[in-house]
Amino acid sequence: MIHPDSMLRRFWDLLVAAGAITAGVDIPLRIFLPDILPENLLNLDILYLVIFSVDIVLNFFTAEVHEGKLITEKGFIAKHYLRTWFTLDLLSALPTDLIHHYWASDNPAKGQIWQILLLTSLLKLLRLLKLLRLKGSWDRQQLLNPSARRLMFSLFWIALIGHWIAIGWIAIGRQDASLTSFENYLRAFYWTVTTLTTIGYGDITPQNNIEIIYTIAIMITGAGFYGFFVGNLASILANIDEAKSNFRWKLESVESFMKRNEVPVSLRKRVRSYYNYLWDVRKGNDQYKILNDLPLHLRSEVSMFLNRDLLKKVPLFEHASDEMLRELCLALHPEIFMPGDIIFRKGESGSRMYFISKGRVQVTDESGQDIYATLEEGSYFGEIALLSHTVRTASIRAADFCDLYSLDREVFENIALKDEDFAAGIREEAQKRAIENKKHREASKNLTNPDN
Ligand code: CMP
Repeated sequence: MIHPDSMLRRFWDLLVAAGAITAGVDIPLRIFLPDILPENLLNLDILYLVIFSVDIVLNFFTAEVHEGKLITEKGFIAKHYLRTWFTLDLLSALPTDLIHHYWASDNPAKGQIWQILLLTSLLKLLRLLKLLRLKGSWDRQQLLNPSARRLMFSLFWIALIGHWIAIGWIAIGRQDASLTSFENYLRAFYWTVTTLTTIGYGDITPQNNIEIIYTIAIMITGAGFYGFFVGNLASILANIDEAKSNFRWKLESVESFMKRNEVPVSLRKRVRSYYNYLWDVRKGNDQYKILNDLPLHLRSEVSMFLNRDLLKKVPLFEHASDEMLRELCLALHPEIFMPGDIIFRKGESGSRMYFISKGRVQVTDESGQDIYATLEEGSYFGEIALLSHTVRTASIRAADFCDLYSLDREVFENIALKDEDFAAGIREEAQKRAIENKKHREASKNLTNPDN
């Protein structure tokens, strides 16, 4: 059994789609404007027959996704296929073009039957309906951006329908004998575009009743169709990068809020650069909204993936169990700071610690003058107050744009109960830092008070 989403099936579907599209372009031309095409299209006819027939056979061996379940039972698949697409596939695989090819070339009395036989090859166009199925399968697999997909399919159908309308215009008799077939087609297509888009320059006008009726029909459908397409196009283009347009919209509303409230220009600049950095590192900030919609097991897997960089950077996490990392990832809260931002001050109470994913921070005294240490990616801070339930022993200032993840005391304590080593590692480091600071303070005291 072939899986409906397997590479083989995807490739085959594309091949069938290419066959159907070629037939959609070539067969109407063959009937109404044969001179425009090369004389011998036998290879194409054989190709249609092979692709469309093999497709029928393959469809009997392709598993079906039914209500989210993969069904591989042969009987069910055959019955389902016979009930749905089989008739259409069979009609479009009929080799009427091939029969016509051999029959018409040997038979001098071509006449009307010749024409009817040729007309039946239009049945191949039924295959184009399969493109709807292909679109459904692309939608399911989320191939390409959804808006790009919509745009591609819309443009394709417009071009193909335009082609058919142009051939219809030729079929009802609008051909100039003094022009080549290609020139006639070009004019017909030009007429189609100007009529469909309701531009109607009036240089090509209907000359008889049938042409007038045809023009009216195309104008009426064209007006609706054009309005619908232009309206849709705007929304498709706006949504091509939905995250970016949402973000731009948010930025604009923040900007106008700040203007209305007369926020000082320098502060406005900082807010703007915060949002720009947020876009650069997170591509929008809606990941937590999206995560909240997921069931817990998926949420933890996605957040493990999103936090993979941080997990790799922090040496403390290297030996942690999978279960602990999952819990940790779910609890980590992203925070962004800009250069110069004070993340917290010495003496403040604090119940969370921070891990550095990007950027550097400086550990300073309350005045910010004395720098005890500079911490980089993969490091952490804020653990002393968290562990000892006391106030912050130092101030922390962002030296660059900083991408941090904070962890609450409650979660930390939960994790510490399960993973002794993790908590012990942090406690050890906290002690070392406290001792270092003590030494540092004493040294600077001695420096200012040499008599001691
Ligand atoms: P906490 O006291 O909660 O807040 C300030 C933080 O700075 C502290 O936790 C430590 O994480 C960190 N810190 C303090 N002293 C040092 C130091 N000497 N080296 C590195 N980090 C420090």
